[in-house]
Amino acid sequence: MTSKHKSISPLERLKSLHLRGSVDLQCGQKIDEITRSLVVCDETLRRMMASLEAAFNKGLATETASSASVRMLPSYVRSVPNGTEEGDFLALDLGGTNFRVLLIQIHNREAKMTSKIFRVPDHVMKGSGEALFDHIASCMAQFMEEHGLKNTKCLPLGFTFSFPCKQEGLTKARLINWTKGFNASGVENEDVVDLLRRACHRRGDIDIDVVAVLNDTTGTLMACAFKENSCQVGVIVGTGTNACYMEKLTRCGKLETELDPTDGLPDEMCINTEWGAFGDHGEMESLRTEFDVEVDQASINPGRQLFEKMISGMYLGEIVRVVLARLAREGLLFGGDTDAISKKGGFPTKYVSEIESELLEDEERTFSKTFQILEDLGIEGVSQLDCIHVATVCTLVSTRAAHLTAAGIAAILNRMQKPYVTVGVDGSVYRFHPTFPRLLDEKIDQLIDGNLEYQLMLSEDGSGRGAALVAAVATRMKNERSQLAK
Ligand code: BGC
Repeated sequence: MTSKHKSISPLERLKSLHLRGSVDLQCGQKIDEITRSLVVCDETLRRMMASLEAAFNKGLATETASSASVRMLPSYVRSVPNGTEEGDFLALDLGGTNFRVLLIQIHNREAKMTSKIFRVPDHVMKGSGEALFDHIASCMAQFMEEHGLKNTKCLPLGFTFSFPCKQEGLTKARLINWTKGFNASGVENEDVVDLLRRACHRRGDIDIDVVAVLNDTTGTLMACAFKENSCQVGVIVGTGTNACYMEKLTRCGKLETELDPTDGLPDEMCINTEWGAFGDHGEMESLRTEFDVEVDQASINPGRQLFEKMISGMYLGEIVRVVLARLAREGLLFGGDTDAISKKGGFPTKYVSEIESELLEDEERTFSKTFQILEDLGIEGVSQLDCIHVATVCTLVSTRAAHLTAAGIAAILNRMQKPYVTVGVDGSVYRFHPTFPRLLDEKIDQLIDGNLEYQLMLSEDGSGRGAALVAAVATRMKNERSQLAK
């Protein structure tokens, strides 16, 4: 990409601060030793890229697909929007702690959007599948009521369902396993479109026509491609992480028997990599630290989503907390007080962003926000040096996340070998962490093949808008085919 400037990294700046301000160099050195494993050099990243590339191939080949860690799931999306899509669409977006219903009106290359956010309470995330889908249907009915859509018949709907699904077409998606803290019973192996339709029938007061079900990465790619035709990759770094890209059908061995080469459709398909599960077959062992092991062991799905657990918003704060707890136990932080920092989940990822933002903005080095966060956590007698060390740990953990994501994106770009590709990116970590986008961009630039160029583009609300666009493209292609048949 374009940005080649080598600015001084936050980590380097912290180190220089540390040397100037610290009265206890020895303590700094010990912290360095304990946290050194969190720094990943380019050589290691390149090795990881080679192993990820092998995992991509494994996930696509007929013989190995069923035992692959990176599942490479077909989306049945064959074409990105061409700008001629039109119409009104409903979209549902389920993939994190919030659930959204959207009405999207596409006209003259503009997509006008109205949406409403509903919370998915913890007991619904972890209760019965039926209750979860009843909740979704009830939110949808409420939204339709509020927008005078309750009596509309067969409203076309795109459903963004951001969990690994085995799709059997554009409107059939079986959940493989839950991720990101969801654990509703009776949904794994079931078709989530069917569960949604059944929940709507149970209510009897809304009439929808599900024309597409998709992953949020696919939505991100589509939303970006609507604006920027060169968009061929979609990435999420939010509560979870994942990527999809347009893959040549000739490289999707496992689809060979299923697709008709004379169907007149483009010779590519959007493949949802589900890279969050990379490492679940031991591919990340040389990179994982004792801190990652601890976070994983305490999660609701130990041994799964190991790449995701080093990168995404659901885990970054927790990794930082585990590191800080270790430093406190060693007497290197908070005067050795471990109580307040020992509570699982007590250090949300938004603190990482806030502490690092202060580091960039607070010229005076008052660390007032960091002091406040640590005091709110219940840590007593916080010192300025504590604040410096906490900021260092945050920087190390988020930098590693950005570099691992960069290696993932570079592996995809190198695999595609297209001269210029736009990568649509979305998710709370990418949006709200102050240095993540820059670190990501700089590292991809260092890792991609010299003949390739790319740009990163923030995908404005990909999972909502994208759902409507997939629905719109499906409708357009259906219309085009019926025109041709006449
Ligand atoms: C899910 C993916 C999703 C990603 C980002 C992961 O946990 O498995 O399907 O795309 O989170 O939301």
